[in-house]
Amino acid sequence: MKIIVDKKNRKYVINDEEFHTEKGVIKKEDIVNAKVGDTLQTHLGKKYTLINPNINDYIELMKRKCSILLPQDLGLIVGFTGIGNGSKIVESGTGAGSSLLFFANIVGEKGHVSSYEIREDFIEVIEENLEGTDFKNITLTNKDITEGFNEEDNSIDLVFLDLPYPQDVISDAYRILKTGGFIAVYSPYVEQFQQVHRELEKNKFKHIKIREGNVRELEIKNNKTRPSSRLAGHTGYITFARKM
Ligand SMILES: C[S@@+](CC[C@H](N)C(=O)[O-])C[C@H]1O[C@@H](n2cnc3c(N)ncnc32)[C@H](O)[C@@H]1O
Repeated sequence: MKIIVDKKNRKYVINDEEFHTEKGVIKKEDIVNAKVGDTLQTHLGKKYTLINPNINDYIELMKRKCSILLPQDLGLIVGFTGIGNGSKIVESGTGAGSSLLFFANIVGEKGHVSSYEIREDFIEVIEENLEGTDFKNITLTNKDITEGFNEEDNSIDLVFLDLPYPQDVISDAYRILKTGGFIAVYSPYVEQFQQVHRELEKNKFKHIKIREGNVRELEIKNNKTRPSSRLAGHTGYITFARKM
């Protein structure tokens, strides 16, 4: 995938064909001959830089039919669970594949991410999104996860749940986690993490912590530097716990 980015960080996917923007047309021959780092210009003079997308660019531009995990929440999960090269992760639901692709990128070729999604129409979107990547460390399964994970006992470093009723799968998550492994559960609402918390305690999970990823951007202006007046709002709460 090739993308072009303008001065305001707006990104567009381009293919080897003429590209129409709101500020004019970029010629096909310019696109075909362009290399990463080149500037492409429309016939009206608007400029774009050509780059190869990184994982965040790719997730931002891919198809979606539901809300997805954002970098600040994904960063929290990676930071507090210590997953990395070689980790084995299981997650559900897959949604559009944002958390799936982010984790696959983090665990690398020696690691693996297994993801479960109940809806067939979502599976089609995710498969399309996966086609634009080279990941060979992903298993995608079309299944209602309340029927149980396919993984063996004590084999997984992290179970991540982004489901309407995550409490229904917490005991099976405990089964597949290694001792010392983490569960992380994303909940948009307080009432949801309260249920998750109760279920984690019932299932003997330890070190239960609830965290929120608030990111505050600053606007830098001459003598007027301050937090942005267009701050991103609430995303969700993430409940972490450990099998001990
Ligand atoms: C908010 S989305 C997940 C977004 C995903 N984490 C991402 O970052 O793209 C929640 C997903 O859970 C799926 N889901 C809901 N109940 C499920 C179940 N019982 N088993 C598997 N998937 C389920 C939904 O179809 C939906 O795709």
